[in-house]
Formats: sequence, structure tokens, C-alpha cells
Amino acid sequence: MIRLKNEEQLEGIRKSCTLLSEMYAELKPLIKPGAVTAELDKFAHDFIFDHGGKPAFLGYMDYPSTLCISINEEVIHGLPGKRIVRESDLVGIDCGIDLCGYFSDAAFSLGMPPVSDETEKLMRVTRECLDRAIKAVEVGSRISAISRAVFSHAKAHGYGVVRQYCGHGVGFSQHEDPQVPNYVSAGPNPRIVPGMVLAIEPMINAGTGDVYDLDDGWTVVTRDRSMSAHYEHTIAVSAHGVEVLTHW
Ligand code: MF3
Ligand code: CO
Repeated sequence: MIRLKNEEQLEGIRKSCTLLSEMYAELKPLIKPGAVTAELDKFAHDFIFDHGGKPAFLGYMDYPSTLCISINEEVIHGLPGKRIVRESDLVGIDCGIDLCGYFSDAAFSLGMPPVSDETEKLMRVTRECLDRAIKAVEVGSRISAISRAVFSHAKAHGYGVVRQYCGHGVGFSQHEDPQVPNYVSAGPNPRIVPGMVLAIEPMINAGTGDVYDLDDGWTVVTRDRSMSAHYEHTIAVSAHGVEVLTHW
């Protein structure tokens, strides 16, 4: 069931998204070679609580952390811990906040210097996939317009699109209907209407789109060990158009 948001509820979601963006603005400079991933997680955790929010992932299906930190061939759901960020790592950061019952969700990838041309291009094309997906959001169109925008652009560059995980509705909880796949699926394909709040999140691999889960029960990695990039925004659809609520 798709739960549409009224203006007052949207204002609550906006605030949650703003807090997430503010957290990212302070976290970003800390992400550099030598950083310990657990310490980045602690920074995000403390920032969110200090500002009256709750880390939305923490405890979600028993997820143990505030951030997902997915490095290189890790696609999503990488667990913060003792790992140290290295030169040339491709670091993916994902976080959600529950602020007064309103949920935000956003993710970005960051290349540690020196960034190879291949990594730079993978990040750029994945960002373009997200940009194109957002431009495809239009009242009256269907969710598949988003999916097609991501898939066609990634494929045009020979990249693999992850199918096992999707974007989603967000706002009243971390994951809501509708699913927002990054490929054109045979599943439900609702029309885009005012009041929808969506987390759009292309996950794009330099190799094939196949992934599997590590033994830690969380980390999703590319089957061929190729690099993977991930960008995500929470967006709102209103009668006036599309509003991108998050920033990184
Ligand atoms: N960030 C993921 C998403 O975008 C959700 C992570 S769920 C968690 O949908 F369990 F890992 F926290
Ligand atoms: Co998400």
C-alpha cells in the first residue's frame, strides 16, 4: 500500500532530510585514508542523537550500525568496524534518520585519492543514472520511467545494474511501497502521483550486476569483485513538481 504524504507530513520528512544532509556535510571531510570505519559510524551516531534524531538503520532487522560503509567491491550494507579506509578506495556511505517519526534516506560514493579513471567514470555514470532517474519523475508517468532511466544509462556504458535491491517509498518508515527497481521489472508499476516520497538509489557495478552476501549476514558484494558505486536521494512529488530533499 502506497501511503501518500500531506504538506504537514512532508514538512516533517523535509526536516529529517535536512538533518541527514547536515550530518553528511560534517562527516564527509572525515572520510579519508586512515579513517577507521567504526569511528565514522560513531560520529554519525552521536551527531544524529545530539540533534534529536535516531539512526534509522540501527536495529532495523537487527542491523548493528548507524551507517552502511561499503568499500570497493562491496555494494551496500557494509558494516563499520576496524577496517581502515585506504588510498584509492571507493567508499560508499548510506544512512537514514528517524526524526520525530519521519524518515530520510540518502547515500553517496566517494573516491579516495588517487582515484583511477575507471573509478571516476563509474562514480560519474552512477550519479548521472540518479540525475536521469530524478528527471524522469513526473506526475502521471509510472515508476518504470525511473527504472528505465537508470538501466539504459548504465547499460550504455557497459555497466551492471544490481537487481536484487531496489529503491523504495520512504517517509513514515525506512522502506515503504512502492518498490523502485533500477531495471524494468514485471512487478507492480504504479503511476507517480503528488504526495509520493521516494528513495531512488542506483547501485551500479563496473562488471556484471550479480551480487552475493558475505558471511557477516549483511555485506553485499559484486560476484566478479568489480567496483560498485551507489548514490541515493530522497525526493518528494507534489503538484508543483519534484523536490530533492537530501544533499551530499
Ligand atoms: N540504506 C538502505 C536503503 O537504502 C537500507 C539499509 S537497511 C539496513 O534502503 F538494515 F542496512 F539498515
Ligand atoms: Co534506501
